[in-house]
Amino acid sequence: MNRLVVVGVQWGDEGKGKMTDYLAQNSDVVVRYQGGNNAGHTIAFDGQKYALQSIPSGIFNPKIKNVMANGMVINPQAALQELEKLNSMGIRDYKLFVSDRAAVIMPYHIALDGAYEASKGDNMIGTTKKGIGPAYTDKYARIGIRIGDLLDREYFAQRLKDALVVKNMELKMLGLQTMEFEPLFEEYLAYGQQLKPCICDTSILLYNEVKKDSKILFEGAQGVMLCIEHGTYPFVTSSSPSTISVPLGTGIPPKYIDHSLGICKAYNTRVGAGAFPTELDGDLAHYIRERGHEYGTVTGRPRRVGFLDTVALRHSCRISGIDSLAIMLFDVLSGIKELKICTHYELDGEIIDYIPSTLSAYSRCKPIFVTMLTWEQDITNIRKFDDLPEEAKLYLYKIEQLAETKISHISVGPDRLQTIER
Ligand code: GDP
Ligand code: IMO
Ligand code: MG
Repeated sequence: MNRLVVVGVQWGDEGKGKMTDYLAQNSDVVVRYQGGNNAGHTIAFDGQKYALQSIPSGIFNPKIKNVMANGMVINPQAALQELEKLNSMGIRDYKLFVSDRAAVIMPYHIALDGAYEASKGDNMIGTTKKGIGPAYTDKYARIGIRIGDLLDREYFAQRLKDALVVKNMELKMLGLQTMEFEPLFEEYLAYGQQLKPCICDTSILLYNEVKKDSKILFEGAQGVMLCIEHGTYPFVTSSSPSTISVPLGTGIPPKYIDHSLGICKAYNTRVGAGAFPTELDGDLAHYIRERGHEYGTVTGRPRRVGFLDTVALRHSCRISGIDSLAIMLFDVLSGIKELKICTHYELDGEIIDYIPSTLSAYSRCKPIFVTMLTWEQDITNIRKFDDLPEEAKLYLYKIEQLAETKISHISVGPDRLQTIER
């Protein structure tokens, strides 16, 4: 179990930050393998709360090597600001490595993200507007800038000039201000110099750690339902948060991955638009949202909430080869008046057990529920599985049965210590 992947199995915000930090206490290396500063990972310990966007969640432990791997899209300005903020909170002693192959999020990506969204009107995705989609698009169109490019003045100048030809045409077409070469070039060269001590070929670093049999934790961002390949397209992010992304996003071959831990809220949330079959409104939604503080870490948007959807969960567990689950925010359900789990969908009169490929069909899916017993007891101070209320245990057993996957961890509060191991 030396190489473990932490994967969100819903629509993000499952508590990956908390579990990564918890597991990082026994790790040598923590690696972010995809996404960028669209992520918001909250970590709480010693009475302090931290929110990370692009920096890996092992940053609080000076012994841990933190890696921002090649699969990420990195906004250097935002990453430097994040480090500064950590610095101001007393986090100064850390090890950070940034892949020379990671894609750079440029200001035109952010401008284009906003413009694409605006052009969609009512069909907007509700992106985080961090430039994630346009940065990945340029990577695959082979006009992206990579972190290592920022260290080579002449090469970077050429890459940026080439990119700007296309990007300025696009900006103009969308009625946006075009961007000038010189100020962009100087600004991003300077970020390169600031990050230079951290920049390296992280695939070599990671391979050497594998050879030493180090404990490596791969920290996913977003969740499998937001996966560009297997999520609820087009209301997804532009990378794959799934375990399968780890080899590509880090350079570590699949054979070295030992365990995939699926991070799953005890209920469902979604931030941004797109179909959400088990979505709740009214008092129950209010109860969960307020108890779970379900407001986006990055954008502050209220998260949409709903009952646990095990059609989506089985889909994610299958796609990501989940070996065990961590059930998060379990404490939020104490005292709830009505509790259900979605087992299947009904689509046009037929009972189905899969995620339809089109949004049109997915929007027509109606949840089929099984009703669960509720419990009143506050569980935030429980540390042993056996001490949980019987009704709460039944809820967990039902998840195991429906997800066809064992539960290895249960989280009963945001703090590192509020974790039950099974
Ligand atoms: P991530 O994006 O997957 O890392 O999740 P976020 O940090 O965006 O959202 C999870 C939220 O739930 C954060 O505010 C955490 O502090 C909080 N949290 C994590 N685990 C628990 C838990 O077991 N109980 C409660 N009440 N809050 C939790
Ligand atoms: P963490 O790592 C929840 C959502 C956005 C939007 C869609 C596309 O904290 O779980 P993007 O900016 O990526 O192009 O937006 O994906 N989204 C997230 N939702 N948690 C996240 O990250 C998310 N990152 C992106 O709200 O619907
Ligand atoms: Mg989050």
